[in-house]
Amino acid sequence: MKIPFAPPLIDEAVLKEVTDTLKSGWITSGPRVKLLESMLQELTRLPACVCVNSWTSGAQLVLKWWGVGPGDEVIVPAYTYAATALVVLHAGARPVMVDVKEDFTLDPSSLRKALSPRTKAILPVDFAGWPCDYTAIQNILQEPDIKTLFTPASDAQQTLGRPLLMADAAHSLGAMYGDNPAGLQADIAVYSLHAVKNITTAEGGVIGLNLPPGFINAKVRDWMKINSLNGQTKDAFEKMQGGSWRYDIVSPGLKINMPDICAALGIAQLRQYDQTLLPARRRIAWRYYEQLQRYPWALLPPLRSAVSESAYHIFPLCIKDITEAGRDQIIDAVGEKGVSVNVHFIPLPMLTLFRETGYRISDYPVSYAKFSTEITLPVYPQLTDAEVDYVVSTLIAAYNAVTGNEASG
Ligand SMILES: Cc1ncc(COP(=O)(O)O)c(C=O)c1O
Repeated sequence: MKIPFAPPLIDEAVLKEVTDTLKSGWITSGPRVKLLESMLQELTRLPACVCVNSWTSGAQLVLKWWGVGPGDEVIVPAYTYAATALVVLHAGARPVMVDVKEDFTLDPSSLRKALSPRTKAILPVDFAGWPCDYTAIQNILQEPDIKTLFTPASDAQQTLGRPLLMADAAHSLGAMYGDNPAGLQADIAVYSLHAVKNITTAEGGVIGLNLPPGFINAKVRDWMKINSLNGQTKDAFEKMQGGSWRYDIVSPGLKINMPDICAALGIAQLRQYDQTLLPARRRIAWRYYEQLQRYPWALLPPLRSAVSESAYHIFPLCIKDITEAGRDQIIDAVGEKGVSVNVHFIPLPMLTLFRETGYRISDYPVSYAKFSTEITLPVYPQLTDAEVDYVVSTLIAAYNAVTGNEASG
């Protein structure tokens, strides 16, 4: 059996929506992006959504709006994809890394220690689709001492009076926190619609605005729209309408708008998300959970608690008492049987760019412990129960062969 890691869902509905878009005569930003934004707003219950061409570009735009620059610090987990920290560097600021908890998400106690008068924003990651401990993070941000520490340098920063809480929700479209979509816990949640994500537009991202009273989300959305298209007051679609050619450039915006041809994929997938695609992910993740929970060596990821439910983006399994080399051998062994697994993530301090700028993995022991024992199992709607069972039996056989532990199950 051959099991790829994360093939995109390209079904008849996607093909039809893309073909219809091609035939419509309009392929860049226009009515389909607008429709996708309104569908995403409905799913996330966020007051405003803006589609862009990646999580990375969307996060850059948010930091630009928030006024992050040289001399500023932004707190990120050490255990994430590089983009979370790269957007901070692109803004000219310094990423301050903190360790994660056993559930892979930012450790609030480390966050408290990392806050300084230079901290302008916090970017916690809903790793694997599992929401961070937003209650603890929000409580810290509301502490009088922490608010006093904050040094606002723009009108928006003055209005909020504390660091911006921008969720890296790249993995967590569909995750819940209490009775609400998890994105509502942040001031701004940025989602990824990259090819391997729960909903994809090939490349894409969504900026979800949820700013508190004092801000008008619709006004900030308009700013984001204009500044995702060169600071231009009208997009190409609007300019094409009869007698409407005149436009102005009002700020030095980025050029990161999403085209309609990409939005078409997302629309066709999103129509099936609540009823079919997300339940399929849930079924697969829980099937892994139920089959692996009897093995003491299998440390299972959190999927649901009294507070949260995952978006089931991936299944990050950790292997108890394994070395990094042993973990790699298990990955090779399952690969030989046709099963593609992955590792999420190599902690940032282990990557050349960050290592050479002074970050040390020894400062992030939980991140290293998670990384060195982690194997990501595939989760996507096309996986059948038989394929999930094959992944599990292949993994168990590989574990036994590598550790010599035939009696473990
Ligand atoms: C946690 C996390 N943040 C950000 C990104 C960047 O997303 P994009 O590729 O849409 O820029 C990714 C992509 O894999 C990610 O996993």
